[in-house]
Amino acid sequence: MDFKSGEIIFKQDQQGDQAFLIETGNVEIYYTHRGGLETSLAILGPGEIFGEMALIDSSLRSASTRATTACKLFVINKEQLRDKLDSSDLTVQLVVKMLLNRLRQQIRNQTGDNLDIINASAHSEIVLDRIKLESQIRDAHQNKEFVMYHQPIIDIKTSKICGSEALIRWNSPEKGLISPGIFIDLLENSALIIPVGFWIIEECFQQSKLVAQKNPGQKFSISINISARQLSNSGFIDTLKMLILKHGINPENFKLEVTERVFIEGGSVIDFLNKCHALGFEISLDDFGTGFSSLQYLSRLPIDFIKIDRSFVMNILGDEKTKAIVSAIIYLSKKLNMQVIAEGIETEAEFKIMKELGANFAQGYLFSKPVELSRLLEML
Ligand code: C2E
Ligand code: CMP
Ligand code: CA
Ligand code: CA
Repeated sequence: MDFKSGEIIFKQDQQGDQAFLIETGNVEIYYTHRGGLETSLAILGPGEIFGEMALIDSSLRSASTRATTACKLFVINKEQLRDKLDSSDLTVQLVVKMLLNRLRQQIRNQTGDNLDIINASAHSEIVLDRIKLESQIRDAHQNKEFVMYHQPIIDIKTSKICGSEALIRWNSPEKGLISPGIFIDLLENSALIIPVGFWIIEECFQQSKLVAQKNPGQKFSISINISARQLSNSGFIDTLKMLILKHGINPENFKLEVTERVFIEGGSVIDFLNKCHALGFEISLDDFGTGFSSLQYLSRLPIDFIKIDRSFVMNILGDEKTKAIVSAIIYLSKKLNMQVIAEGIETEAEFKIMKELGANFAQGYLFSKPVELSRLLEML
C-alpha cells in the first residue's frame, strides 16, 4: 500500500483490522487530546510495525498515524497475527498483553490524559492460574514428585493378570495424590511433556525388571501412554533406542498406547509409529471410537491392540445399538489381526458381556483400581 507525504493512515479511536510493516518511508504516531491538540509519540522508519495493538486485544486505535514522507507499507491482517498469537505459549500471550497495557499507560502519562487504572482481565486470571500450575508441574518433575501407578490388565481366557497400564500420578507434598485429569492437558500442551514423557518411559523400563524378578519367565506387558506431541518430537526414536540399550529391556514387553489424535498429526508421526513397531514395541489404539475414527487407518497402520473405550462399556447393557457397535468392532479387529482390550469394566455383568462378545483382555475397577508398583507386585 502506498501513502503520500502528509496522508493519514488511520485515526485514533477507530477500530482496526490491519497492522502495517513499513517497507520505505516514515510514519508519525500522534495522540490527539480532547481539545484537538496533538502530541507526537514517535516517528517510525523501515522495518518497524505499527497498528498491531488494536489487533492483539481488539481495542480501539491508541493513536493516529500519518505518512511524513512517501511510504510503502506491507499489510498484516488481523487473522494472520491473531492465529500466531493464539497458538503461542500462554506465558508469551500474557507477557504480550501486559506489555500492551504498559504501553497504553505510558501513552497516558506522556500525553497527560488521566484515564482509568488498568486491571487484569478475568481471562488473564485463568491464564495466570495455568501458568502457576505449569511452574508447579515443572517443579514437581524436578523434585521427583511424579509416580507411576499400574492398573492390572486381565487375560480373559485365563482370568490372570498379564500386564498393566502405567498411569501417572503427582504426589504433591502439599496437596496429596493428584490425578492426571488435573495436569495432563497442561503437560501435553507444553514442551514439558518431552522430558516428563522420557521419565515415564524410563520409569516403566525400570519397573518392568522388578515385575520380571517377581514372576520369572512369565510374559508381562506394560502399556505406556504416549501423547501425539511426544511422538512428533524429532529426537523421540533416538532417545527411545538409547533407553532400550541403557536398561537392556526387550521392547516386546511394552505396548505404546496412542489415541486417534496421533493420526490427525499425519505424516511424520505415523512414520515414527512405524519405527517404534519395527523396534519391537506393540502398538495399542486407546479410547477407540471416541474421536476421529476413520476405519482406513486401521488397515494401514501398525496397530496390534484396540482399546474399547469405557463410554461403550458402560452403555453396553442398556443399549442394543452400543452392543451392536462393540460386536462389530471386535469382529473387525479379529479380521485385521488385532486384539481387543475392554477398558473401564466396573461390574460382573459388563465383564460377562464383553467376554461373550469376544474381547481378549479386560481392565477396570472390577479387577483393580490403578495401584502403586509394590501393590501390583503383591497381586502377581
Ligand atoms: P486413559 O489412558 O484412557 O486411562 C484410563 C483412565 O480410566 C485412567 O484414569 C484410569 O484410572 C481410569 N479407569 C480405569 N478403569 C476404570 C473404571 O473401571 N471406571 C472408571 N470410571 N475409570 C477407570 P487416570 O489414571 O485418571 O488417567 C486419565 C488420563 O490421563 C488417561 O486416560 C491418559 O489419557 C492420561 N494419562 C495418564 N497417565 C499418563 C501418562 O503416563 N502419559 C500420558 N501421556 N498420559 C497419561
Ligand atoms: P494501534 O493501537 O492499533 O494503533 C496505533 C498504533 O501506534 C499502535 O497500535 C502502535 O502500533 C503505535 N504506537 C502507539 N503508541 C506508540 C508509542 N508510544 N511509540 C511507538 N508506537 C506507538
Ligand atoms: Ca491409556
Ligand atoms: Ca483409554
